[in-house]
Amino acid sequence: MRKGVKMADTNIEPPLWLLAEITYRCPLHCVFCYNPVDYAKQHKELSTKEWIDVLRQGRRMGAAQLGLSGGEPLLRNDLEEIVEEGRKLGYYINLITSGIGLTEKRIKRLKDAGLDHIQLSFQDSTKEMNDFLSSTKTFDLKKKVAELIKKYDYPMVLNCVLHKLNIDHIGEILTMAESMGADYVELANTQFYSWAKLNRDQLLPSKEQLERAEKTMKKFRDRLGNRMKLFFIMPDYYSNRPKKCMNGWGNIFVTIQSDGTVLPCHVASMLPGMEFPSIREKPLDWIWYKSPGFNKFRGKSWMKEPCKSCPEQNEDLGGCRCQAYMLTGDPANADPVCDKSEHHAKVIEAVEDASKPINNEKKIIFRTDSDSRKLMNQKINGGLDLEKNRLFEDSSSPSDEKSRVGSSSVEIP
Ligand code: FES
Repeated sequence: MRKGVKMADTNIEPPLWLLAEITYRCPLHCVFCYNPVDYAKQHKELSTKEWIDVLRQGRRMGAAQLGLSGGEPLLRNDLEEIVEEGRKLGYYINLITSGIGLTEKRIKRLKDAGLDHIQLSFQDSTKEMNDFLSSTKTFDLKKKVAELIKKYDYPMVLNCVLHKLNIDHIGEILTMAESMGADYVELANTQFYSWAKLNRDQLLPSKEQLERAEKTMKKFRDRLGNRMKLFFIMPDYYSNRPKKCMNGWGNIFVTIQSDGTVLPCHVASMLPGMEFPSIREKPLDWIWYKSPGFNKFRGKSWMKEPCKSCPEQNEDLGGCRCQAYMLTGDPANADPVCDKSEHHAKVIEAVEDASKPINNEKKIIFRTDSDSRKLMNQKINGGLDLEKNRLFEDSSSPSDEKSRVGSSSVEIP
């Protein structure tokens, strides 16, 4: 049994991981960003005091790991304060960052505040592709940040999201990581949620690309062993069984969005007919244990066939609810990555299309406030196809063009 405070009348275990998406503001515009496509609705960020209260509530319940992400968490000028409080409470704290804004002064302050771990993202080994994919000129800056991470004695953890446009550079990416002295490299193939789902036709690699990349990665792994640990995460679409998403709905992970909405995963707000309360309205323990949203897909009682009678149901718990909804329209369906799903052909079709040449007429959509607003308007006016429609929360509507995403009492640098 996990440590922590349970509600008396429930068998539900408390959360272990708390992911705080402290802002949706971001200097980058990544084409595969996992933030909700409608993030530019009016998000009033939680204040420092509110975040500190969330951390206290989470820790009282038993959460031990704290992820600080965004957007770009370094855009919050109270990040050090949040880290300091997290440390006092006893969390293990991981900063998930693009590195933009991580100056020597700030890394020193974060170290003093008690930050345990930094995960730095890269888009590619080449300046051109890195800057194109993020729609910014950030490559050289990231290299400097990598040096600072070493200097301040953090393990060097690099993350590179792989997809059709960069997967053939995997050898160069790993050579670059080696030359930077990386201790861990996470090569995470894009999973197709949010902005990546919008851009799936341009981003899903072909089977041949994936096989070549895996071979190259294995060569590096054999040579480097423990000196640089490599993690290669396959895209769901190339499996015939789904992942146990979030290690089970409402089982271990809790995500708090920048405006305080509490979710079982980072995109669940798009699921229809479900309400996820804000930490401004309800205490975290009530949301975790009692809210209808968190209980909806907990355990197995919600399952339909083929999951209901599947001998593997404990291994994957039916896969990902959000993927089931995006691809089939019903979040209670089996994740169509599973070849037992009657909708599996959808995944096969996407994989087959991935071996065809890219359609250059179809434009890549970068994650920007203005595109988020534009897409919301298109959805409201019926201008999006069915699968794209499913990426939006039912009631989301764009904030004023002139308003800043994340506007709040927090000073915006
Ligand atoms: Fe929401 Fe998998 S991403 S349940």
